[in-house]
Amino acid sequence: MDNQIKKIGILTSGGDAPGMNASIRAIVRTAIKNNIEVVGFMRGYEGLINCDYINLDNKSVSEIMQRGGTILLSARCKEMMTDEGKQKAVKVCKDLNIDALVVIGGDGSLTGALHLSKLGVKVMGIPGTIDLDLACSEYTVGFDTAVNTAMEAINKIRDTSSSHERCTIIEVMGRNCGAIALWCGLINGAEEVLIPERPDVTEEEVIELIENNRKNGKISNVIVLAEGFTKVEPHEFAKKIEKITGIETRATVLGHLQRGGAPTAVDRMHASMMGYRAVDELLKGNINKIMIYKNGKYDDIDLEEGLKATRTYDNSLYEIIKTFA
Ligand code: F6P
Repeated sequence: MDNQIKKIGILTSGGDAPGMNASIRAIVRTAIKNNIEVVGFMRGYEGLINCDYINLDNKSVSEIMQRGGTILLSARCKEMMTDEGKQKAVKVCKDLNIDALVVIGGDGSLTGALHLSKLGVKVMGIPGTIDLDLACSEYTVGFDTAVNTAMEAINKIRDTSSSHERCTIIEVMGRNCGAIALWCGLINGAEEVLIPERPDVTEEEVIELIENNRKNGKISNVIVLAEGFTKVEPHEFAKKIEKITGIETRATVLGHLQRGGAPTAVDRMHASMMGYRAVDELLKGNINKIMIYKNGKYDDIDLEEGLKATRTYDNSLYEIIKTFA
């Protein structure tokens, strides 16, 4: 291996995701095996801009794989959106002799990495977000844990909803992407799923469905609402359903619960493999890539190309949910 890389920086940025620690561990362990020094910037780009970092050795990443969150902390850094902030970040990389920076985060964080790459910093990106909203990769670290967490929560809500013969609206995260909602819709047997990719579905249609379900003997209705389906405010919609149908209705916003917890086996695996590959590719002389998972294989894609990819929506999962409902 042609090893031009002597020092790597790592940061985790944007919304944290279960599995980020497993990626950090994989990067550190792979780098150290190859005699590469590693530093971790604290609070994402904020730490980079302000030169706030820690040295990472094998021991510092012991027993972190199973921990949710990120040991490097995370933040949404407004300064990184300014030219001044980017220049500061570049200077810190130069001053610390950082040969490459590995960024773990979602599209905003990887866009920050792209900007740095245009200013001469060698970067690698690992998709880390619960949202599963990066078009270039079929997997983003954190999604499986978030879906499992949401599934467990919805199971519990379904129990009480059934006991009380109620209707329940449950809002899940995902920003502008309906992936978490769709998965929960299927695996929780939801009666309806409202996702940003299907803005045509109306409140009136949902109310009609609830009324028909009741006539047909269904005692509870679970409606999974993606936060990106902004036409509906869950608590207001619950009141409206109750008023029109006479069926008691409650709303629950699952919120940040979905971002925590020990990563699942799937997340540990993807996070570790992508972390390993990020360093391995750097050692091979590749730079400015996003680690991806596609067609059952780990691969990588040019950072700019990967970020330009547009998400396509396949309605079949929604149709299957409606078949089962
Ligand atoms: O991108 C991850 C995510 O959890 C989204 O699903 C959600 O919209 C957003 O972050 C919430 O951000 P914050 O933690 O800053 O409120």
